[in-house]
Amino acid sequence: MKKVLMVCLGNICRSPLAAGVLRKKLKDKDIEAIVDSAGFEPYHIGESPDDRTIEIARKYEIEIESHSMRLFRIEDFDIYDRIYVMDQRNLRDVIYLARNDNDKKKVDYLMNALDPGKNQIVPDPYYGDITDFEHAYELMNKACEKIAESLK
Ligand code: 4NP
Repeated sequence: MKKVLMVCLGNICRSPLAAGVLRKKLKDKDIEAIVDSAGFEPYHIGESPDDRTIEIARKYEIEIESHSMRLFRIEDFDIYDRIYVMDQRNLRDVIYLARNDNDKKKVDYLMNALDPGKNQIVPDPYYGDITDFEHAYELMNKACEKIAESLK
């Protein structure tokens, strides 16, 4: 079974939402895969997603409320087949911990699932407002559709 990890900075806004969006698509398409998310900023360890993330998730009927913030760990390279990052900082953070080329090969921008090689980012909505969360959702929704199709 394929295993996918979504990574952002705080693991309370973008990556838990991306994981929830992908899980929902996989369920709807009857595709089995394991999807999780992680981050790098330890400030919110163990916490639920941001209230605005929960608001967007409820709007689109995505289950994320059971999520609890966790840090990225080196063992994630052993567990996951694909590691999707949201922006340049996340890419730098993950690649810094990669032990070899095999680890590095697993890492890519989430939006490259939609537009390969363009390295588009999902901007961090944390310091923005609900429209920034909505924008992040729209981007990841398109990318996750492609990822779900690729996991068939
Ligand atoms: P995320 O947003 O990376 O999309 O989860 C953030 C959430 C919290 C922080 C940074 C980004 N923070 O520094 O606490």
